[in-house]
Amino acid sequence: MDRLPGFRDFLPEPVPTSKEDLWSMDLRNHIFDAWRQVAESYGFREYDGPPLEALELYTVKSGDEIVEQLFNFTDKGNREVALRPEMTPTLARLIAANERGYKKPIKWFSMPQLFRYERQSKGRKREHFQLNCDIVGETDRAADAEMVALIIDVLRALGLTSEDFVVRLSSRDAWQKYFEERSSDSEKATDFYQIVDKLEREDPEVSDKKLKELGFELAAVQDFIKQGNPTDELKIIIDNLTARGLGDFVKIDYGVIRGLAYYTGPVFEAFDKKGAFRAICGGGRYDHLVNLVSGGKVDLPALGFGMGDVVLAELLKARDLVPEFGDDLDVFVLIEEESERPASLGLIQQLRERSLNVDYSLTPMKGNKQFKRAQELGAEYTVRLDRGLAVLKHLSSREELRLAPEEIADHIIERALSQAEAEQN
Ligand code: HAM
Repeated sequence: MDRLPGFRDFLPEPVPTSKEDLWSMDLRNHIFDAWRQVAESYGFREYDGPPLEALELYTVKSGDEIVEQLFNFTDKGNREVALRPEMTPTLARLIAANERGYKKPIKWFSMPQLFRYERQSKGRKREHFQLNCDIVGETDRAADAEMVALIIDVLRALGLTSEDFVVRLSSRDAWQKYFEERSSDSEKATDFYQIVDKLEREDPEVSDKKLKELGFELAAVQDFIKQGNPTDELKIIIDNLTARGLGDFVKIDYGVIRGLAYYTGPVFEAFDKKGAFRAICGGGRYDHLVNLVSGGKVDLPALGFGMGDVVLAELLKARDLVPEFGDDLDVFVLIEEESERPASLGLIQQLRERSLNVDYSLTPMKGNKQFKRAQELGAEYTVRLDRGLAVLKHLSSREELRLAPEEIADHIIERALSQAEAEQN
């Protein structure tokens, strides 16, 4: 049976290359490690919510595009439900219900799997993981700058540089002003934003036709984008990033407006500089969403971003930034005599309790076959019991030591520590 279109299988390395579109679990973990480490280094705390939510959470204010892409159904209790297509409404719900227990600003991150019934294309699947970092309860532009700096540092942690990507900064306020100066029909503002959001992907004739229906001209809209005069709020954000030495990573670009309906102030998206991929991440301010989701009970400003794993993994592969994933096996215990199995199991247990990764043959097997298996698994050491002692072999140097079994773990751990120290110096 095949997997559903747009969904992915993640396999341990080495991932078979014979089949199309298999994904590496090691690469996924590599990305997740960077996400978590950098988010924590910025003082963000991790949270999560359920993958299935009430449909209404998304129809309130995510915008039509995302609602069309929902995986939704009626559950056995006759509830209208949807798999989460994004995390922000869940976060708004969690904040509305629990914010009293937390000092402001609240800085939270999450790494949910999200589901959108999208037309599949490069960088677009029907499921993806997304790093979400959000700050709630802070209106100061310093928070917007912090968000952009966090994006930059996550991408740098994965080896990307200012040669590889740029964060395009824009402002919903600037676009709102543009719209209001030319149209009195505020109900059409979201339609207008969505046309602008798609300008780079849509046929210009189609965009022009859609804009004309709202009373706008494509050429004038393009001119506004080209001028790119930064608003005061964007100037503050750029100055803040420049002070950190991160000015090279950002530029003002009104071509970004964000498709989702809830954004209010500064918005941003990161792109690869060659323009070969879809957005790596996107976000901005959404100062009214918590209010809306809480039915007016809680009013807190908020901002944040989502960074997907699909485009990011494709970009890392294209820039040759996927590390070689080593095998994590520390020790393979050889059981050459079945009479040694009980004592060997005791040793295996001891080593695992010291957090070493240990494997062995579950069934009787010839000694040379076991040794071959240890090599195939990339074990760093083999150990075998021999007349009450343990023979420890370091596979790459071929060094052999005879130690008391209870000394093995200490020896391996000390050697790893001194090796790590030597590498640092
Ligand atoms: P978004 O722009 O819809 O924003 O998604 C953010 C990122 O998730 C995109 O830039 C892209 O990398 C990735 N992504 C989105 N859809 C797909 C897909 N179908 N397949 C693969 N990757 C995808 C949001 O979701 C906002 N809720 C982000 C946010 C958080 N805003 C404030 N806080």
